[in-house]
Amino acid sequence: MARRALITGGNRGIGYAIAKGLKKEGLEVIIGSRNAEAAKQLDCGHVHLDVADLRSIEQAFDDIGIIDVLVNNAGVLYEEPMLENPAQFEQSMQVMVHGPYHLIRRAAPAMIDRQYGRIVNMSSNWGSFTEGLAGPGAYGVAKAALNALTLALSRELPSCVKINSMCPGWVATRMGGETAPRTPEQGAETGIWLATLPEAGPNGGFFSDYHPMGW
Ligand SMILES: NC(=O)c1ccc[n+]([C@@H]2O[C@H](COP(=O)([O-])OP(=O)(O)OC[C@H]3O[C@@H](n4cnc5c(N)ncnc54)[C@H](OP(=O)(O)O)[C@@H]3O)[C@@H](O)[C@H]2O)c1
Repeated sequence: MARRALITGGNRGIGYAIAKGLKKEGLEVIIGSRNAEAAKQLDCGHVHLDVADLRSIEQAFDDIGIIDVLVNNAGVLYEEPMLENPAQFEQSMQVMVHGPYHLIRRAAPAMIDRQYGRIVNMSSNWGSFTEGLAGPGAYGVAKAALNALTLALSRELPSCVKINSMCPGWVATRMGGETAPRTPEQGAETGIWLATLPEAGPNGGFFSDYHPMGW
């Protein structure tokens, strides 16, 4: 039976390219988003999901049941200094840390029962201490926390559930802007790989273009 994958924010940008790629790999794809249009276009599953809303996460899992693969891709990027806009700070943490935590919490028990799980956290080099935490404040803090969640959970989860973070590079999407050098498909490649890792694949790492990068 095909593995079932939930991709958050799979309605556009890198998430949509990951959804398309996983469908091509033969997975049963469910786009988790606030808008169902893209799922119709891709002819795949859809569940209504606002990752900043715990009730929406709970409802989405009640609706879809068990998944084998979770791609925490949804993200928001605010440019204002974080002390000037606490609402944007809160939203960044909700979308890129709390949401992924609650989604993993709901997805993990069935993955453990079935002895198979792949979790991909879409992070950024802007959340990397090694690279100087160079992004706008709230974004960098949230992505660094998402990386920390990845590493810490890789120690809590059994090894049959592989959890990794990744950076897609600078990608031409609504977030990345038109001048970015990479296509969404190029940005999606490492995510598709991490979502379909073989048993011997890596766990608890941070990757870009298939290579480990510094936290
Ligand atoms: N583009 C880059 O250069 C780049 C670089 C490094 C990392 N990333 C990361 O890659 C991921 C995808 O970004 P992208 O470039 O594809 O950006 P994008 O085109 O702006 O897409 C962002 C996605 O996140 C979704 N989203 C935001 N808040 C949400 C919420 N509360 N609930 C559900 N979905 C929500 C959006 O859904 P709506 O359509 O409903 O708003 C959209 O599908 C993000 O995590 C981003 O931080 C991107």
